[in-house]
Amino acid sequence: MSELDCTDRPFSPGPGLRVVIGRDTLAARVEQLAGEITDCYGSGEITIVGVMTGAFIFLADLMRSLSMPIRLDIVSVCSYPGESIKSRGPQLTLPPTADLAGKDVLLVDDILDSGKTMTFLLDLFSAARPASLRTCVLLQKDLDQPVDRPEADFVGFEIADEFVVGYGLDYDGMYRGLADLCVLDPSPSSEGDK
Ligand code: IMP
Ligand code: MG
Repeated sequence: MSELDCTDRPFSPGPGLRVVIGRDTLAARVEQLAGEITDCYGSGEITIVGVMTGAFIFLADLMRSLSMPIRLDIVSVCSYPGESIKSRGPQLTLPPTADLAGKDVLLVDDILDSGKTMTFLLDLFSAARPASLRTCVLLQKDLDQPVDRPEADFVGFEIADEFVVGYGLDYDGMYRGLADLCVLDPSPSSEGDK
């Protein structure tokens, strides 16, 4: 079996992209978050509901840093159809399959922006009468215009109010595989920001 060496991937994500959180910082914070989640739940079973598609890389990394028994379910919510960078409101495109009644449920999403997705999912999941319902997001946007949104129980990073891609997050279905979190930045001067 051949050995794969992924350590030599170029750090530059490509033209028009500016790194805002590098892969090492992401990895270190995900480990810390797993510690915070373990401090909260202890060693009891939890049910994680991951929100597709944006959370898939964060979810995979986070789960592998947790050691309690985990039941996993996924839901899919679409907020930014096509080339839109303005949310048109969440639509459930894949509903949950697990019975959440009586379970300790942790909702894991990529980013808390307007909060509409989280509000929508919290309403949906509360109706299933879980024993507890908490939320974890990798990113929380520090919005220019304050909005009435739910607080997440676990937050990886606060970021500026910019549209970010990479580490699972997309623009029009692209960039999800970038190892670093980046901003789409058309200005050539962004080359100096790495
Ligand atoms: P909200 O409903 O406005 O809070 O948006 C949450 C969802 O929109 C997230 O789960 C993401 O899928 C998507 N989203 C929000 N902001 C961004 C961004 O900057 N880049 C990529 N996706 C985003
Ligand atoms: Mg999402």
